[in-house]
Amino acid sequence: MKNKIELRLMQPDDLADVVALEQKAFTHPWSLQLYIDALQSYECWMMFVDGQHVGHGVISQVLDEAHLLNIAIAIEHQGQGLGLHLLEHLMQRASERGCVECFLEVRASNSPAYRLYERYGFNEIGRRRNYYPTIDGHEDALVMACTLFAD
Ligand SMILES: CC(C)(COP(=O)(O)OP(=O)(O)OC[C@H]1O[C@@H](n2cnc3c(N)ncnc32)[C@H](O)[C@@H]1OP(=O)(O)O)[C@@H](O)C(=O)NCCC(=O)NCCS
Repeated sequence: MKNKIELRLMQPDDLADVVALEQKAFTHPWSLQLYIDALQSYECWMMFVDGQHVGHGVISQVLDEAHLLNIAIAIEHQGQGLGLHLLEHLMQRASERGCVECFLEVRASNSPAYRLYERYGFNEIGRRRNYYPTIDGHEDALVMACTLFAD
């Protein structure tokens, strides 16, 4: 039987689950306070498979530009196409809201995320030196952009 994938907007009650997933998926996860602020300012989406929270993503919008601020899939659910499904949904939403382009930053060392973005259609357009903290220093951010097409 095919698994049932659902997407809905994040609610304050989701934040404990979101932060728990982030802490396992990221070396530098967003804090609870960051998510409380994100719920006020950005569009935050939850993804479920058969009712289980498997991932989430956050997009911001300024005029007709979107910015992908975060995307995460639970470690045990990675490598099944869920990241791409969630990214497609977030870009669809941005397009519906009138955005014509989306930007993001990704750690230079984060090959799985970089490949996901490339697979969707993002191109690398720049590099911010020493943008992200690491456990023992800093690393570059790669800046990527993608044109969004309305259906
Ligand atoms: C980046 C991230 C969101 C990708 O999520 P994901 O669900 O693993 O992504 P996908 O499953 O769509 O793609 C991952 C890989 O699985 C492969 N894949 C997809 N569906 C598959 C399937 N049915 N069977 C086997 N492999 C599959 C993809 O081809 C891809 O392979 P590649 O990395 O060698 O190119 C996830 O790794 C993550 O949450 N990482 C930690 C948080 C993070 O770094 N976020 C990005 C911040 S910028």
